[in-house]
Amino acid sequence: MTLEVFARALPKAELHLHLAGAVKAETFLKLARKNDVTLPPFGEVEELYHYDNLFDFLKIYDLVARSVVSADDFHLIAYEALAHVANAGGRYVEFFFSPQVHQDAGINYQTMFSGILKGMDDAEADFGVISRLIPAINRELTVDRAFEFLDRVLPFRSEKVIGIGLDYDEEPFPPAQFKPVYERAKKAGMRLTSHAGEGGPAANVRDALDLLSVERIDHGYRVIEDRALVRRCVDEGVAFTVCPSSTVILTHWRDLTAVDHPIRIMFEAGLKLVVCTDDPPMLQTDLAKEYRLLAETMSLDRRTLADLALNSLDAAWLDESTKRHWR
Ligand code: ADE
Ligand code: ZN
Repeated sequence: MTLEVFARALPKAELHLHLAGAVKAETFLKLARKNDVTLPPFGEVEELYHYDNLFDFLKIYDLVARSVVSADDFHLIAYEALAHVANAGGRYVEFFFSPQVHQDAGINYQTMFSGILKGMDDAEADFGVISRLIPAINRELTVDRAFEFLDRVLPFRSEKVIGIGLDYDEEPFPPAQFKPVYERAKKAGMRLTSHAGEGGPAANVRDALDLLSVERIDHGYRVIEDRALVRRCVDEGVAFTVCPSSTVILTHWRDLTAVDHPIRIMFEAGLKLVVCTDDPPMLQTDLAKEYRLLAETMSLDRRTLADLALNSLDAAWLDESTKRHWR
């Protein structure tokens, strides 16, 4: 069996995927034309997804999000995103979406949630892929907006809408200020995760753990700058959702074979890594490709890939009896 076939067949969970980042370029074009969203100049449709840093990426990400208007549009993108994960051997998905960008385009929360939740149901029926939704706060907006986000999102909390995240540009917007927002979300029964240590320093990883009480860290690469924090995260079994292609395209760690690539250092330090995609079509990848890339660039054997897949189940927000059933 080739590595490609093995990586695809391996049952695994996807725990770090942004819905707007999981829209195929063709679907983006179709929705943008339907909903009168002006696109930047492009030749081939794939050129819509050309960028080499987070700032430029997020501009296109917002444009994709603004192309999604009706409940049917939300249904379509959720269904296609989950089909794409299922095709890569993903059996269970916890995925983010960014309600505030849609809100600012005039879309109400009922429209967003009804379309996405129906897309999740239909993908489960058609592909057997089970999914849960994590609305994520845009950290570039204010803390007041984050509280407003909670007011709007918490009424939708359910078996399927299970937690909150924190994303967008981290460096100028560290986690600490969101502490009261996270406290309120936790009291309301939400599970908690946050992007940290992607562009910001190791202290942001510590603050996400200690101030926001997150249960996972999304990316977390700069944790390697603080050896004591690495040791603590190893001891506590903190899971990091790492996204290899995302580092190559959106960060300055462009060489996965480099001895100082943070994912390699994190792996060698014994941190619990969960391989994820971030924004699969926008980063020209899928979950199977991310596993294969790590195997090829870090010389991992198949047993190790299987252990990484088990990490993804371990770090999933599923109850223990469901996990036992899956194992
Ligand atoms: N939204 C989508 N992808 C992201 C990333 N890599 N960092 C922050 N916000 C994001
Ligand atoms: Zn992300």
